[in-house]
Amino acid sequence: MKFSVPRGTNDILPDDILFWETLESKARKICKSYGYKEIRTPIFEDINLFKRSLGATSDVVNKQLLELSSRGENNEEGYALRPEGTASIVRSYIENSLDKKEPLSKLFYIGPMFRGERPQKGRLRQFHQIGVEAIGIDGASPFLDAEILSLAMHLLEEFNVQTPKLKINSLGSKEDKENISSWLRNEFAKHKNELCEDCQNRFERNVFRVLDCKNELCRKVVNVVIGKEKALPLSENSIKYFESVQKTLKDLEIDYEISPHLVRGLDYYTHTVFEITAGGLGSQDAVGAGGRYDRLLDELGGNEKTEFGAIGFALGMERILLAAGKNKGDSQTIDAFVIETQAEYEPRSFKLLNDLRNNNISATKSFSGGSMKSLMGRANKANARFALIIGDQEFKDKTVSVKDMSSGQQEVVAMANIVSNLKDKLQRVDQS
Ligand code: HAM
Repeated sequence: MKFSVPRGTNDILPDDILFWETLESKARKICKSYGYKEIRTPIFEDINLFKRSLGATSDVVNKQLLELSSRGENNEEGYALRPEGTASIVRSYIENSLDKKEPLSKLFYIGPMFRGERPQKGRLRQFHQIGVEAIGIDGASPFLDAEILSLAMHLLEEFNVQTPKLKINSLGSKEDKENISSWLRNEFAKHKNELCEDCQNRFERNVFRVLDCKNELCRKVVNVVIGKEKALPLSENSIKYFESVQKTLKDLEIDYEISPHLVRGLDYYTHTVFEITAGGLGSQDAVGAGGRYDRLLDELGGNEKTEFGAIGFALGMERILLAAGKNKGDSQTIDAFVIETQAEYEPRSFKLLNDLRNNNISATKSFSGGSMKSLMGRANKANARFALIIGDQEFKDKTVSVKDMSSGQQEVVAMANIVSNLKDKLQRVDQS
């Protein structure tokens, strides 16, 4: 029987791993340079954590949660694979009392997320995110919104994502959201039959989602109800807050567009929300998204007496790779490929391999022997910088022939000097 990778998931093969490593190491470096620290949480959690935080009526919870069938001892409803990172980070923040450690916890994470979606280009069931969250009593500053947005744009620039487009909006405070919600429900009720089937359902459960429905009919209704370019009716404080965020973005010369109907699919957002799109991705063109979620801590049982502020984003790594294009030719190299021309020389070549590795020189060999031509072919395929050959003469003289794989030059070196000789050569290659 032959098995295939599950639909909507990908193997990341050795030829591609360098792109991933580069992305991850750049992400770590840049996040740390903004003062963010890495956090790792489990890839599955109590299913209610997601229901509670993302919203029981959100598509992610309603249609896409991948539940685990094995149930926990005290967990009646069981676990689900995480569809995103924010809920887990907030759970961990509260559980580990991170608020006692510092007034603002600046955290980042890199890892797989799972959503039972219908797979298509850029939409997977297992995908990877680089996520960033800033949470704490110091977290309610418009400058923090600007820091988060500038970090997201900085990362995308560093990843070579061409012309990323930042769209922002404000949903206002929790109270604003409640007021807008009942106002919208009233208004949409007058046009209920003109809405698409999905929105007729959404309208009852989460009226905000009607605002960013792509269906032409719904767009028409939305334009009638709130006007094409008009912002949501926010309170004065919320408007002021949003204006401060925008002013800081302008000061930092970060280009953005206000997208008055951008609402996002997860329930936890208040105030600033944003989405970053890039070309070449087809219909799934969001490379990243995020926003403020000040009230989520309360909702997940945080310290009620403390006012927390929280904001973050996540970038989709598969979409970044699609948008940035892969830099062909990057693949893993190895310093040395050891070759012996006779099976009886193998103990010596194997000992050499070990000496090289113990001296921080990366090295490998063939374990099946073969002709010199085929072994040199293997060295080439392994992207070796040097081939170290133990032939008849070398075996007799206790030497090694060192062949530079790019220039073709060859030199005989005493076995006793091979480590220092090779280290010199590698240093010269690295400097050139
Ligand atoms: P999200 O918009 O659901 O937000 O996902 C963020 C990014 O993850 C998307 O813009 C996209 O690039 C990528 N993504 C999402 N679903 C898929 C999929 N099925 N296949 C491939 N890529 C996908 C969140 O996840 C929030 N937790 C972001 C956040 C952090 N908000 C505050 N803090």
